[in-house]
Amino acid sequence: MLSLSNKQIILGITGGIAAYKAAELCRLLIKGGADVRVVMTNSAAEFITPLTFQALSGNRVHTDLLDEDAEAAMGHIELARWADLILVAPASANFIARLAQGRAEDLLSTLCLASSGKLAVAPAMNQGMWKNAGTQDNLKQIQEKDVTIFGPASGEQACGDTGPGRMQEPADIARAASDLFETGELAGVNITITAGPTREAIDPVRYISNHSSGKMGYALARAAMEAGANVVLISGPVALEPPPRVKVVVVESASQMLDSCKVVPGDIFISVAAVADYRPVESAPEKIKKTDDTMILTMIKNPDILATLSLSKDRPFCVGFAAETENLEEYACKKLQDKKLDLIFSNNASDTFNSDSALVTAYWNAEKNTAKKIFEESTKSSLARDMVALIASRYRETAAPV
Ligand code: C5P
Repeated sequence: MLSLSNKQIILGITGGIAAYKAAELCRLLIKGGADVRVVMTNSAAEFITPLTFQALSGNRVHTDLLDEDAEAAMGHIELARWADLILVAPASANFIARLAQGRAEDLLSTLCLASSGKLAVAPAMNQGMWKNAGTQDNLKQIQEKDVTIFGPASGEQACGDTGPGRMQEPADIARAASDLFETGELAGVNITITAGPTREAIDPVRYISNHSSGKMGYALARAAMEAGANVVLISGPVALEPPPRVKVVVVESASQMLDSCKVVPGDIFISVAAVADYRPVESAPEKIKKTDDTMILTMIKNPDILATLSLSKDRPFCVGFAAETENLEEYACKKLQDKKLDLIFSNNASDTFNSDSALVTAYWNAEKNTAKKIFEESTKSSLARDMVALIASRYRETAAPV
């Protein structure tokens, strides 16, 4: 199964007979869950029409650097920033040479220069062109610039030659693109993540809860899974598709969430859930009738799940969240200290409810000089990958102090 859900991919197509295979590749990337924008060079459009890719991707195909309409919809710098991955397939010898030189004379090469996302190319050319020393030099240069090269395959070529230079099959390219997101930095680590709200019953039809879409917790679960971790996601009620290869335990109340967390605390515990701080002392067995004009509900404090695990013997590496509406840094650092956490992420609660993006700061090292990292505002899925990278590096450092 491809791990391309929520991945934003620019599929770049350059001129070559293998351009027809890019249609199948586009379909496979979308089937794998990616959001795909297609960018074609002028010569690619000689081999296959932009309309084919517009129909397949559901988005307008970008061809020109100086296209006013396209710039008004999503400018080229915005498009470059949007992409988690630019995948050029087929990549001609000429395009690879442009990439090696860092040229920006057409839209696709400009995007490659402007993007800070991943960049991969699937070369496709005649075997003589592939073996040529100039092409091989260019390939070496782009590899040094962190460009990943898929293939090429070897065999019969459209021109009648036989040898290396054929574009890899679309299914192999889609698989390799998906593998780029699987970092392995948490390979074999057991991680438990809580997400979503909890619901505290007042009676069989009413409850008290918090605002929480669960998006951040689910994005972290997916990113941790892609980093190679075995992930258990303990989730309150949300309207989200569970990420693939993640074990989901659905709970309702804070006490149910705590019980599940005690069973599978993992090596790392990431507490993203918006746990209700209080619950009604009693949940009425039957629906309460609205006979009185006022109603007094007596509540009792819920157990703090994160603090319980963090302060327990054989504690996991504990990561908390501080969603606040004011004094973000002060409150986050206080929680880091009080709950004896290894790491905490703070975010502005009112900005992030149900939103697809977030502005997050991390704090750690409470006992010494508290360290801090501000993350650039980004989509929750891209942010989650950066947050998981920080969690992995802090976890490794804590597990094996130098
Ligand atoms: O103390 P506060 O609720 O603001 O702390 C937030 C952090 O603690 C979050 O990581 C949240 O998931 C966790 N928490 C918890 N159990 C509670 C309350 C909060 O695990 N009862």
